[in-house]
Parts: sequence; structure tokens; C-alpha cells
Amino acid sequence: MNKATRKTVIAGNWKMNKTPAEGAELLTSMIPLVKDADCDVIACVPFVDLYAAQEATKGTNIKIGAENCHWAESGAFTGEISAQMLSAMGIEYVIIGHSERRQYFGETDVTVNKRVKAALKAGLTVILCVGEYLEQREQGVTAEVCAMQTKIALGGVTAEEMERIIIAYEPVWAIGTGLTATADQADEVCGIIRDVIAGLYNAEVAEATTIQYGGSMNDGNAEELLSKVNVDGGLIGGASLVAEKFAKIVSAASK
Ligand code: PGA
Repeated sequence: MNKATRKTVIAGNWKMNKTPAEGAELLTSMIPLVKDADCDVIACVPFVDLYAAQEATKGTNIKIGAENCHWAESGAFTGEISAQMLSAMGIEYVIIGHSERRQYFGETDVTVNKRVKAALKAGLTVILCVGEYLEQREQGVTAEVCAMQTKIALGGVTAEEMERIIIAYEPVWAIGTGLTATADQADEVCGIIRDVIAGLYNAEVAEATTIQYGGSMNDGNAEELLSKVNVDGGLIGGASLVAEKFAKIVSAASK
């Protein structure tokens, strides 16, 4: 394993937080703190915040992403936003399959796959989330669950398109709970996911794919998590809403 061959990516997931003005303020305070980052820095923000976030970060190293997109290009899907709409406004990244979408909005592996393909077709880079529930971990099926989610989500995705896939391993029991997977647990499952990618494509694609850990990653635990060979970054919820905390995680990833 050679971590140096992959991009380290720290992405914030703001979830349903911040108005456009509040978001712009947060980003403005982050800009000087992360300007020397030696990793990719992304803020994934609510749809209505996208424009203000782009404006606030113009000319900086912070890239802006959305938190979801629909699989159709357009049509009768009240309340949804298409991948084309995002790319038309210059958005480069989109989170797909977050466990909160799966849990509260009926997202399935099949709809995650449809959204992944639509996002890739529109030219976006996808942050694809996979992860097990606590019961599944306790039943010893973490590897199977994460492998299945990864395989179904990537159905029909080519090796070339894998250059625009980032995977976020997010154990559901660690999200927003303050419970973090240990660095070894995170490394183990990120490694399992990498093996799945090697099986689906080849070792070269697996080695090149950025696999993040997410779930209560913060300024205190980031360095240890990110030191692991298979952990190539983080998807950060709560700590991404505080400029100093997010910046410390970015610094830990830049070492
Ligand atoms: P958390 O969220 O950092 O608040 O646990 C992570 C996520 O849901 O992406």
C-alpha cells in the first residue's frame, strides 16, 4: 500500500445547517486557516447555500459540493435537484448515499447507484458513503455490508470513472454520536473496501481511490485516524461547522 499515490481529501458535510449568509461567514473565516493545506478541502453545503458558498470561496483552495442529487436530468420530481443543475452552476462534488439519506429518506443501494451514475454523467465527483449499523457490527457482518453497499453503488461505473469516486466509510453508529471508530477499525474497513474495489476493477484502481473515514472525526482524533495506511481523508459533520476545528483536521491531513 502506498498512500502517497492517492489524494487526501477533507470534506465538510454541513447537513441541514447554516443559511447562505451564515455559510458565507463560516467559509470566510475558514479561508485563511486552510489556505496552506496540503490536501483537497471541500465544503458540502445545503442546496440553497451553494451559490453564496461559491462566491465566498472564489479564488481559494476550498471547493464546494452538494449533499445529494437526483438521478434524472429533469422532470416531475418535486423538491429534487439534478446532477446537471449542480454542474451547470459549477459545482464539482456531491455526497451520495449518506446514511441519513438511507435512514430518513428511503435511499436504497439501488437508488444510490442511480444517483452515482447520474452524477458521474454530469461530470461531478462523487463522495459515496457506505457504512454499517451497530447491530451489523455486533453481528460480525461489517465487511459484508460495506462490500455489498460498495458493489451495488458502483454497478456500471467504469474504471476510468473511478477517478471521480471518493468513498467515505462512515459507520452509522459513529455519526453524530461522539463515538468514533478506533483508528484500527477505520483502517480495517477502509482496507476491506479497497480490496472490494481491487476485485471489481484492479489493484491500480484500488490503490488510486481515496477512501475517507467519517463519524465523529474531530480535531482531537483526526491525526491518529489519518495516520492509517488506508484512511485517505475524512468526511466531517459536526466539526466542519466550526472553522478552527475543521482547520485543525485539515492541518492534521496535511502532515
Ligand atoms: P459527524 O458526521 O462528523 O457529525 O459524526 C459525519 C457525517 O455524517 O458525514
